[in-house]
Amino acid sequence: MNLLEISDLVIDHDPVTHERRPVPREAVVARLAAAGDRRGARIAATLPCAPDGTLDPDAVDRRLVAVHTELQRLSEELRTGDRITALLRPLLDALRAGGHGRIRIVDVGCGLGYLVRWLAASGALGATAAGATGADVPGADGTRADGVELIGMDFNAALVAEAARLARAEDLPCRFERGDAFAIGGGDAGGGAAATVYVSTGVLHHFRGPDLDAFFAAHSAPGTAAFVHYDIAVTPLAPIGAQVFHRARMRDPLGRHDGIVSARRAHDDATLLRAARHAEGLVPLLYEPRRLSNPFCTTLRPVIGVRPELRGPLRAALGPRLTGTAG
Ligand SMILES: C[S@@+](CC[C@H](N)C(=O)[O-])C[C@H]1O[C@@H](n2cnc3c(N)ncnc32)[C@H](O)[C@@H]1O
Repeated sequence: MNLLEISDLVIDHDPVTHERRPVPREAVVARLAAAGDRRGARIAATLPCAPDGTLDPDAVDRRLVAVHTELQRLSEELRTGDRITALLRPLLDALRAGGHGRIRIVDVGCGLGYLVRWLAASGALGATAAGATGADVPGADGTRADGVELIGMDFNAALVAEAARLARAEDLPCRFERGDAFAIGGGDAGGGAAATVYVSTGVLHHFRGPDLDAFFAAHSAPGTAAFVHYDIAVTPLAPIGAQVFHRARMRDPLGRHDGIVSARRAHDDATLLRAARHAEGLVPLLYEPRRLSNPFCTTLRPVIGVRPELRGPLRAALGPRLTGTAG
């Protein structure tokens, strides 16, 4: 069965102009039905649409913001902020030891920006990181005095607007931009300048086949030193765990559907390592790959890419659970 997420089908953008295009509801229903997903087709058939049969874009945006708000609970329960900090701290230490000044961290496909807001609010990468200088004081441009710039980027304008609103409400030193994961580092969809470090959570499984390779290839800019992309670990328990969590904690049927499908179509370690080789100049690594982790406890695990000179210091900090092989 071809596994599809409804949230991927209800939004469409022109690949060149990045303008949003109308989406006929029947087309979404038909794709899900053709994939054998009768439940997904039933959920899609209830989405509000205009008299011409195209999905109401405002209703779609409201629904996706609501679903991502529920999804934030998962990030809280899985302690996504702590997990990524445990990898980013030694990485930033190594960068600073190598003479890097300002470090720009971009969360690709940030959704409501939970990770970026968490990093900004906690100061986890701030003055406590070795090598940091200056007080932990945010600058007016969303940078921190210690030289870490936190940016969230997503293709979905409604999610970006909500992420920015939430950050403003707490006066957090971070910012959010609309951008395309395939045009980062100077692309024409608001991707801005290349990041020093790209991160993401729960995004990789949305990209399949050549798109997954292209996602990593977009990290090849000379200014980019590393990436850390967390996604659902493929374990025998992952689909059951996702089913239990989403049934228990997600109210929206669309969110439940997509969450359960996500776990079933997550990429295995070998696929991620292979695709990550498309990021030129970066060495692909896995942290806690399946063979080195407890399948009962593992939910998310990252694929990492680093400039060759960062591999040694990172391995010294993280130990043998950082590896270049899946099997
Ligand atoms: C499952 S959500 C994860 C959101 C967030 N990272 C989190 O952990 O809650 C996947 C996100 O990827 C975004 N996305 C999908 N394709 C994208 C692209 N080509 N460029 C940028 N963002 C994209 C979606 O808009 C969505 O917000």
